[in-house]
Amino acid sequence: MTITVLSHPLAAHYLTHLRDKTTKPANFRLLTKRLTVLLAIEATRSLETRQRSIETPMEAIDCPVLADPLVAVPILRAGLGMLDPIVEFFPDVSVGYIGLERDHETAAASAYYVKLPPKMDGRTALILDPMLATGGSACSAITKVKAAGAGQVLMLCIVAAPEGVARIQAEHPDVAIFTAGLDRELNAVKYILPGLGDFGDRLYGTEG
Ligand code: PRP
Ligand code: URA
Repeated sequence: MTITVLSHPLAAHYLTHLRDKTTKPANFRLLTKRLTVLLAIEATRSLETRQRSIETPMEAIDCPVLADPLVAVPILRAGLGMLDPIVEFFPDVSVGYIGLERDHETAAASAYYVKLPPKMDGRTALILDPMLATGGSACSAITKVKAAGAGQVLMLCIVAAPEGVARIQAEHPDVAIFTAGLDRELNAVKYILPGLGDFGDRLYGTEG
């Protein structure tokens, strides 16, 4: 399946400021939301529409509206930083939550919370997680969302590492990935280089 890397000067500008280690949490949160809007616009470009009959003040007309409401699934904790703009732009969206945490030694992700909408009914799901590193968290979330009945699954991340992209492509080749930046590699402890550090810590001001 495809990986789409945002190609827009404004996205590049926001990402540069997000990477900058002097950027404080308040601005970090704002930049995350702005980049999420750009990612969501790109990721939902081919959503289906259906015709609805309306009347303008001038005449009757058939116009397109979104055919089906989306499901958004942020991966806690850092994915929460991407949720606000999605619920703002897609008012009929249903939201599910998956809590995953990487082990500091092995980088393996384990789930501590899963709450998905009871009826996914083949709907399109946007998985929100700013960092795609080894891909363990993303693949675990994708498996859970598919098992809950989602149709098309789209992965939105702010920064992706080649290792994580390869893992999704191997385990879930049907999932399209959208990212603002495709970085060089992972370091020995599975952090993304050049990356931007620990996203959750920078988002919520919990850096050591
Ligand atoms: C981070 C990030 C992703 C995950 C990516 O979460 O938000 O969920 O790591 O790494 P992976 O691709 O190797 O699985 P973390 O486990 O640090 O939890 P947090 O969001 O609660 O800080
Ligand atoms: N999670 C993060 O927050 N940052 C990384 O570089 C990798 C995983």
